[in-house]
Amino acid sequence: SPKKVTVMPAGVSFEVQPGQSILEAGLAAGYAMPHSCTVGTCGTCKCKLSEGKVRELTNFAYVLEAEELQSNVILTCQAALKADAVINIPHFELKQLTPPEDFQGEIVAQEELTHDTRRVTIRLDRPMKFDAGQYVQVHHEDIYGIRSYSFAMAPAEGGNQDVELFIRLVPGGEFTGKLFAGELDGAKVKIHGPAGNFWLREGKGPIICVGGGSGLAPIVSLLEQAAKAPHGRPCVMFFGARSQADLYCLDRIKQIEEAWDGAFQFVPVLSDEPEDSDWQGLRGFVNTAIDTVAGKYIGEDAQVYLCGPPPMIDAVTATVLELGIDEANIHADKFLDAS
Ligand code: FES
Repeated sequence: SPKKVTVMPAGVSFEVQPGQSILEAGLAAGYAMPHSCTVGTCGTCKCKLSEGKVRELTNFAYVLEAEELQSNVILTCQAALKADAVINIPHFELKQLTPPEDFQGEIVAQEELTHDTRRVTIRLDRPMKFDAGQYVQVHHEDIYGIRSYSFAMAPAEGGNQDVELFIRLVPGGEFTGKLFAGELDGAKVKIHGPAGNFWLREGKGPIICVGGGSGLAPIVSLLEQAAKAPHGRPCVMFFGARSQADLYCLDRIKQIEEAWDGAFQFVPVLSDEPEDSDWQGLRGFVNTAIDTVAGKYIGEDAQVYLCGPPPMIDAVTATVLELGIDEANIHADKFLDAS
């Protein structure tokens, strides 16, 4: 029979069906449960179990420290309920997210953005509603695995039937290899979504965004959405890439800048650009650039949005914490290129 979980200190409760994870049940009920990967690898969904009993769907010990295991920390994406339970999520946000569903999709277009990155359009069997910053899971029945890609555009009112994703070619990757070779043109895929707890929070303070590599999509989506409305929030957007050849989406960023209500600063930072090139901008890793550029945006009401590879997220998180940003105002989407 279904069991009940209560999230403290928010005090919201929902039912968890047998075999369902706490995370699945919370998302199905429309709650903004903290999560990212949904498969027990990123640790974003960890929280403390203060009452009740859970069953581990995969071993928590892969992700949690011994100390966390001893103090009843669990992963909601990998925990089913054995009895009614109470969990503790300190910064639980009362935001309604669209519950994820299954869709049928068809790969209808792809366009080159850089030497290894494409914009891919998938047409769904019906419009999907989502929040800017979220992602979908893609599965092709002949190719092993499920791959996650963020929406690379702002949502339309009433949802989107055509979904745009930025996809990077992963050497040796079966899905991206076939896609880039044109073998998946017109292919049918299964789409599950929307997923992810990365979305623009309300506020009046500055927005500091950092996108690394192919993690630019959710940042562009967030900012395109925010640029549609007057808000007066200053924004600085960092784009960390290897070289000039890896920069993309610059026209869309320009449009965001033009539409933006208030100050908007775009800062590309290159880590691997040849010394003798004509590049006039910043060089090095993006976290060092934040140290030098972002000072004027730092304040109690500033919010930070990060998307990119885990080492970049960890480095930038450490930098902005040192600059005095509160942990509750740092929102991150750890992004791994899916093969
Ligand atoms: Fe649960 Fe990533 S470990 S969402």
